[in-house]
Order: sequence, then structure tokens, then C-alpha cells
Amino acid sequence: MTGDPTTGRDATGMTAHAFTSSQAFTSFQAFTSSGDVPWTSADPYLSGNFKPVGREIINEDLVVTAGAIPRDLSGVYMRNGPNPLFQPISFCYPMDGDGMVHAVTIDSGRARYRNRFVETNSLKVERRVGHAVYGSFTAPHPVDPAILQPGENPGPMKNGAFINVIRHAGHLLALNEATTCYELTADLETIGEWTAGTDKPIRLGAHNRHHPETGSMFSLAYTWRSPEVLIHEIDVTGHLRRTMTLNLPAPTMIHDFILTERYIVIVAGPAVFDIDAARAGRSLLQWKPSLGMRIALLPLDGSPEIWIETDAFFVFHFANGFDRGGDIVIDYVHHESFDVEHPSSKATTFRRMVIDVARRQVSRDEFAGFDVEFPRVNDRLEARATRFAYMPTLSDSFNIPDQPPAVFNTMLKFDTERGEFRQHDFGNRIIGEAAFVPAPGKHGEDQGYLAVFAYDPQDRHSDFILLDAAHIEEEPVAVIRLPQRVPQGLHGNWIAST
Ligand SMILES: [Fe+2]
Repeated sequence: MTGDPTTGRDATGMTAHAFTSSQAFTSFQAFTSSGDVPWTSADPYLSGNFKPVGREIINEDLVVTAGAIPRDLSGVYMRNGPNPLFQPISFCYPMDGDGMVHAVTIDSGRARYRNRFVETNSLKVERRVGHAVYGSFTAPHPVDPAILQPGENPGPMKNGAFINVIRHAGHLLALNEATTCYELTADLETIGEWTAGTDKPIRLGAHNRHHPETGSMFSLAYTWRSPEVLIHEIDVTGHLRRTMTLNLPAPTMIHDFILTERYIVIVAGPAVFDIDAARAGRSLLQWKPSLGMRIALLPLDGSPEIWIETDAFFVFHFANGFDRGGDIVIDYVHHESFDVEHPSSKATTFRRMVIDVARRQVSRDEFAGFDVEFPRVNDRLEARATRFAYMPTLSDSFNIPDQPPAVFNTMLKFDTERGEFRQHDFGNRIIGEAAFVPAPGKHGEDQGYLAVFAYDPQDRHSDFILLDAAHIEEEPVAVIRLPQRVPQGLHGNWIAST
């Protein structure tokens, strides 16, 4: 059974639910060797387990190699990631690529898998011409107009819809950074750009947050062309309800934000877009610490925004934020800077920021010195007080040489109330972000599972693993062998069946 290296599609993999159990076993055997794209790169973020896979497959009956899948668990874990089909002209991890969603569906104690590209308009152009035509986030590349059909993306960058995959109001969405997003079917077929009930595609951020009372989804959209930031509220029916506007001193990259019951909090570090720098051959994104950090509090009741200025730092990802009396508490991963031309070697650490709204003051405390990223909490408590946060780090037990720096092998569970942590060390296996999977019928904050992909670089296989969130250090609840390598990716979510 072979794939087509031009299209990246497997001849038999395009029909959902077409395999019988015996066929599924055959496909498992056939696909364990490699689904890699047929090109190589010296870029460490396109090598090892960062190397993209090109083949789309289905396996209807995965093999559980340890533990057991909880029989009462029903839903699907989906994870997106940058997975360029064609060898890029230029590439800047984690800013570029084609989206590929990997989905593990759990039901009645069994698991099935499928992966599929997000068929964006930009990928369609590249599929038609048979090679990459768009530039990267840090090295934009103009596209020859002669190869474009009317209405196609002229570049110089593509929208690969590769950062996150979420469901809101019944819509499954593949998200990029502050640009249009793509709606998918449950079988991961790309429907097209999503409009949120408007007359044109809507620009959404990669990270979106839901209000605990109304269920509305808030999303942030910036642009490299303008200092204006849009914050959309999309209601529980999937329609755009309102758009708020925030004006910053310069076009600024803002990857994530915080929602509490009363506020939207925008933490705008001085990673700004500088078109003059780009014209001079430098990165479009420039780190300018002299601009400081601007934190904007937007009251959801429509009151005037509140600005707080402090020293420069950067945040890619927040774990959660919530109101506590007159304070706003925010748990996040702290970067000293975000300078793509001169990356910082300092550890990125899990911290708590407390904003005294009345005094316009910010304090910060570090939980522990671990170098971490991709923090998550139990999503049911988003915008409300949380005690536990989960995030990967790299421990000394990992001894595979020459791995890129964005490699993790240990999942941490922080207890922010007690100032303690526990861990699950995967040794030489490489992991990524965890998603919290609530245990059916249970409502305790850590009563559930952590879903994570793990890759073994020694025999090049990937597993889908469920850890007990309440007892993270124990043996996994289930280890499920995947039929094809799952590359390192970005964000994923558990979507329960009900
Ligand atoms: Fe992110």
C-alpha cells in the first residue's frame, strides 16, 4: 500500500470508515514504516520528529499496548501542527507550514485514528503547481502572479491553518494566527473558510477563550500592517455578536490572551512588526524592549479600557486567568524576550501574575525553575479559579543526542495552591502539549485524563497516551500505538461526544 508523494494522499485512505477490522490491521502493518514527505531538510524543525508526514490514513482499530481505554470515555482528541507538504522556500518554526490534523477517536474502549491536511486556499495553489510558492513569516516571498487564478492568495505568506483545532457551536475549526480559519467536517474534510454568520471569512486568533456564564467565544485578531487589534465575541450559536477594538502603539504580535468573568486581558509584549526592517532584509518581527509591556484590561460590561505598563517580557501561552476580589490572577509561561534574530537562552518558566486593578500594579512570582511551554488546565474551569496546571518540560533522563530545543519528555502537574509539582517522566520519548479529558460523570478539577502524543525516536513510532490527571506519576491509563508517526505539533483539544 503506497501513497502518492505528489498529493500526499494514500490511495485507500480517503474514504472514512471504509475499513473492516481485518483491513485495519493490514493497514497498521503497512504504515508503520514511514509516512514521511519525500524530501529532506537541514532545518532541525523539519527533521527528526519535526519532519512532516505526507500520507493521510485511517485506522479503525488501534492496538492498545499497555493499560486499557476507559470504556465510558467517548470523544475525539484532535491536534493540529505545522506540516508543510512541499519543501518550503523558507521556514520559521512555529510560524509556518500546512495544517495537518491528527485525530484519535475513543468509543466503547476502542480507538481509531485518521490524519488529514487542512486544504487551505494556499495549499491548493501549491498542490496545483507541485511545489512551495509562499514565503515564511520571517522571510516573505512574493508569488509569481502568472501561476495564480483569480481570487487566490498572492502571498507573500500563506495561511496554513496549522496552529490549533477547536470546536465552537458545533463548528470544527482549524486556526492560524489572526487570520481566516477553516471549517472541517468530523471526518476532517476541509469545508472552507468560516464566516461566523457574517458575509465574509472572519479573522480569528490561534487561541480562543470561552466565557463561563454565556458560553460566548472570544477571539483576538491582530495584523502586521496595523496597530489595531480586534476582539470578537462569537455567541453560542456561532454568530459574531460584537467586535471590540484596541489600539496599540505599533503593530504587535499577540498569540494568546486571557478572559476572566469580568475582563479581557491583553498582554502586549514589544514583539512588533517593522516593515522597514523587512525591507532591509531583516525579520519583519522585531523585539523592541524600549517600548515596554502594555497590559490592557477590557471590562466586558463596556466600561473604558484600563492600561498598565511594566517592564518588557513576552507571553506565548497562558494557562488560565480569573478574578479574585479586586485582582486578576493569571498563570502563564514567562519568556524574557521574543527576538527571532537573537533568541534568548533563558528558561521559560511557569509564573503567576497578579494584577491589582485599582492600583494599576502587577506582581509576578515564579512557581519553579522548569523550562516549560504549552500550559493547560481543565478547560471546564476556563476563566474561573484553577489550582492545577499541566505542561511539558525536558528532564535529564532524555539522552537522545542532537534533538532540537523545542523537545519535551516530561509532563508536569503544578499545584498552584500548595506550590508543589508532580511529574510523569517519559524517558527517551518525546511528548507535546497535553489536553485535559474530563472523566465522565466526575467534576473534580483533576478528575480526568491527560491526552498526549508521545514519539519514540529510537524505533520511530508514536503512541497516544492517557495519563490519570489525579495521579500523573503513575503508569499510563492507556498506551495506544498509532499506525504512523505523528510529528511534533502545536495545539490540540478533547472534544467530548456529548
Ligand atoms: Fe499557541
